[in-house]
Amino acid sequence: MQYGYFDLKNKEYVITRPDTPAPWANYLGSPEYGAIVSNNGGGYSFVKSGANGRIARYRFNSNIGLPGRYVYIRDNDAKDYWSATWQPVGKSLDEYKTECHHGTAYTTINSEYKGIKSALTYYVPLNKTYEVWRIKITNDSDKARNLSTWGFIEFTNENNYEQDQVNLQYTLFITRTSFEGNKIVQHINENSGKDENGFNHKERFFGLVGADVSAYNGNLDSFIGAYRDYGNPIAVENGKCDNVLNYNSNACGALQSDFTLAAGETKELIYILGQKDPITAENIMAEYKAEGKVDAEVKELVDYWHGQLNNFQVETPSEEFNNMVDVWNAYQCFITFIWSRAASFIYCGLRNGYGYRDTVQDIQGIIHINPELAAEKIRFMLSAQVSNGGGLPLVKFDHRAGHETCPDENDENSVYAKETGHPSYRADDALWLFPTIVKYIGETGNKAFLDEVIVYAEEGGGEATVYDHLKNAIRFSQERLGAHKMPAGLHADWNDCLRMGKKGESTFVAFQLYYAMSVMKGYAEERKDAEYVRYITEAQAELGKALADCWDEDRFIRGIRDNGEVVGAKADPEASMWLNPQSWSVISGFASKEQAEKALESVHEILNTPYGVKIMEPPYVDHYFDGALMHIFNPDTKENGGIFSQTQGWIILAESLMGHGNRAFEYFLESAPASMNDKAEQRVLEPYVHGQFTESTRSPYAGRSHVHWLTGTGSTVMVGCVEGICGMRPNAEGLVISPSIPAEWDGFKIEKNFRGKHLSIDIQNPDHVQSGIKSITVNGEAVEGDFVCECKMTEQTNITVVMG
Ligand code: GLC
Repeated sequence: MQYGYFDLKNKEYVITRPDTPAPWANYLGSPEYGAIVSNNGGGYSFVKSGANGRIARYRFNSNIGLPGRYVYIRDNDAKDYWSATWQPVGKSLDEYKTECHHGTAYTTINSEYKGIKSALTYYVPLNKTYEVWRIKITNDSDKARNLSTWGFIEFTNENNYEQDQVNLQYTLFITRTSFEGNKIVQHINENSGKDENGFNHKERFFGLVGADVSAYNGNLDSFIGAYRDYGNPIAVENGKCDNVLNYNSNACGALQSDFTLAAGETKELIYILGQKDPITAENIMAEYKAEGKVDAEVKELVDYWHGQLNNFQVETPSEEFNNMVDVWNAYQCFITFIWSRAASFIYCGLRNGYGYRDTVQDIQGIIHINPELAAEKIRFMLSAQVSNGGGLPLVKFDHRAGHETCPDENDENSVYAKETGHPSYRADDALWLFPTIVKYIGETGNKAFLDEVIVYAEEGGGEATVYDHLKNAIRFSQERLGAHKMPAGLHADWNDCLRMGKKGESTFVAFQLYYAMSVMKGYAEERKDAEYVRYITEAQAELGKALADCWDEDRFIRGIRDNGEVVGAKADPEASMWLNPQSWSVISGFASKEQAEKALESVHEILNTPYGVKIMEPPYVDHYFDGALMHIFNPDTKENGGIFSQTQGWIILAESLMGHGNRAFEYFLESAPASMNDKAEQRVLEPYVHGQFTESTRSPYAGRSHVHWLTGTGSTVMVGCVEGICGMRPNAEGLVISPSIPAEWDGFKIEKNFRGKHLSIDIQNPDHVQSGIKSITVNGEAVEGDFVCECKMTEQTNITVVMG
């Protein structure tokens, strides 16, 4: 079933049926002031932290009676009311027409009921820390209509959302609301921490610009009424708020306006919500009296985001590919880059920092679009590397580079462990720096980045060049090798659920290290660091020997536990085939051609499903070991044999690197949210965003996806598509162009900004091959091979690539 469509031109997803299988969300603002809004107006808002800065309530794990940003409309003659979003009133869809436009950092919901049209736009202005809901109400009937409207928000009583929900003997008695100057103000712990104006900056406000407030409620129960819910508030049903404010109970902001609209007339109301003291709130509201302010701000958002996305645009024969790569996958990459795993309808906001590996990977997803923004975060993450070379598993949001605590390998109860809940280093964290930095230097040509000096995370850790930070990351692994001379898995590797023991060894990490060594060898050679070249060449050869022993007929094993037992051997009764070692054997450059072909074939044969590739097979049911934590999940779910979405990007990339365009695209399509657009009831999750995983074939709900928006999938699939399928592989000197596409494509086009120049790349595929380059011309001049040197590029560069 289809609930909406992609509007590529406007970079929107348009929801035409509001009864979606789950609330389909969009992101507004940033974690400085974040707002998550569903296609029916549901969602919540917070300042700085979803868990500790929550200002609007939400009901997690539920699709029933959700709190949200609601505007009610009442026809006072007919005594009939509805909401400007289909929910919460939920009028019959025979009579109520609605369309939700989720765009880049704004959402507009257009609805119509009995001749009254409304257009409600939610957004957080660029770089601002409050939110705006603008509604335009139009009388589309042929007679005058007497209407009332109510803007409504349910406040939390306490910024910490858990306290707000559970510590009721406290939180019910700390707040009161007042009504002043067209706004409800909520005061919290009012007597403590007052500034010279008498405010403690915990005040929230919900104000109205563009109409008078004829009545209000600041008390939730008075607005909704006993034994009622958001769908039938007593105030709306009666057409009258009773001006009751809150004192020792639950607070809300509800602002009523009464007006008559002549036939054809439109009225515009602007609601503003935020956590600001009343003077600041007053000043903000005053700004919105200026005509055109909202339109200008929405345009600013659109210009900003479309400007970002337009740095890389493709036009291929596949709408799914275009919609994902040009808009939604790219936008999701920015959301994960900015929000990490902070807050969604699944993440409540409890994680108080950046996961090291998560963020270093997230960065990769935006490098081709905004490498300088990426560089700032790379520097930040390098400042969260400890001088022993390891990464801090969790980088606190208020990370103090050079002054942090860090894990203690001999003490699982270290200060750091107590602060963050992470007892130990993980084997893979700092190794993610290599592909990320390679991509950044490739995109920008900025080799001097390696000489920048960046402080280490811990107190007294000193500082070093990026080059030395990277050497240290390798040293970290080299000093922690297991019995078979591969990196020890430590607390875990990329797979949070796989604990092979501190000294157990992971082939995935070994492949990462192998890749890192190739990178460092290249850098060391360029820098004439002969001693290091010697060292790393030998070390890589040693590691290669160890990895060679991990080949088991037609696959690489997953690792070796600290008791010597192999994980992922072909003969194992369960978990005998794992995806990541196969894809990374190719990405790392370790696998021989023959091994690569075999391993990828095994993946297709054993792990492929109609919804993507499984993380491993068969799932753990009866033959797990204690460290195989994934056995706690149902079979074919999450790390226990689910289709773990993040890994799809790596297999797409691996197939592309082998020139297997058909396979790479097959995997893209199977796992692309957009290709489930007409089976949305099966996928459940938004058809425009990747989730963390999809249930695989043993589940009665095969094809259903979970954990929307905030997942590393954004970046890995982006890289798989851009670097893999599109074959955009910049290096310090220029751009290698090496697409791997479905043979049936006649070709495709790319518009790409690159180092201040614009590239228009026309890729033609007259012989219908999957990969391979016959010729490249740059501004009409033929160049050798598959490489376009930066020196050939002009402000506008036209590149024609003929595959064959
Ligand atoms: C989750 C975690 C990520 C981990 C992955 C696999 O997505 O955020 O750090 O690598 O699961 O276990």
